[in-house]
Amino acid sequence: MPGFDRTGPNGEGRMTGRKMGRCTNFGGNLKKTDEEAKEKPDEMSPENFQGRGFGRGRGGRGYGQGRQNRFREAHNSLAYEIMSDVENLLKISGYSERAIEYYLTHLHVGNIKNPDAHAIYTGPCGDTMEIFLKISGVITDARFQAIGCAGSFASGSALCEIIKGKTPEECKKLDENNLLDHLGALPEQKVHCARLTVLTLKMALDQYNNNRRTT
Ligand code: FES
Repeated sequence: MPGFDRTGPNGEGRMTGRKMGRCTNFGGNLKKTDEEAKEKPDEMSPENFQGRGFGRGRGGRGYGQGRQNRFREAHNSLAYEIMSDVENLLKISGYSERAIEYYLTHLHVGNIKNPDAHAIYTGPCGDTMEIFLKISGVITDARFQAIGCAGSFASGSALCEIIKGKTPEECKKLDENNLLDHLGALPEQKVHCARLTVLTLKMALDQYNNNRRTT
């Protein structure tokens, strides 16, 4: 029976038994010779795949490259179909090309360690926007995270694009129309997502100004 023990020279584990030759190299040259390979073809090769499901083989080694590639192709093609459906739905709903691109690529989604300004705000719709800024005279970096709709993600990306290189004072003058102009279009019922984003930015800038006053 194949198994696993801890009797290696340094106490490390090693595979034992019939399947030993199939495991990842635990301290030995486990490669088959060309002759061995001819006599006993790789049972995990794509040609011998009998549909056992995905995962790792019993010998501890990943399944054959052919199967991994097929899995990746199937996954990519499914992901592509889903993305196309989402894109079409957003188009029909009234999102501009740019808004869709921002949403699908999650442009500027992330966070900043030790931000100079930060705010998190949940709007009346229940969606939450969080903004992180690095400021050195002007906004040098801007990131956001959202728990919300496509409109909130498109708006967050647009905001980060717009404010980089602007002073906090200039940013304070922005409103949702600047975001909508930049995006091109959002569905009518999603205009409040742009408003929520701008409001969160203003809260972050207020916090930044307050901190500067007290330090
Ligand atoms: Fe509330 Fe989009 S629906 S932010």
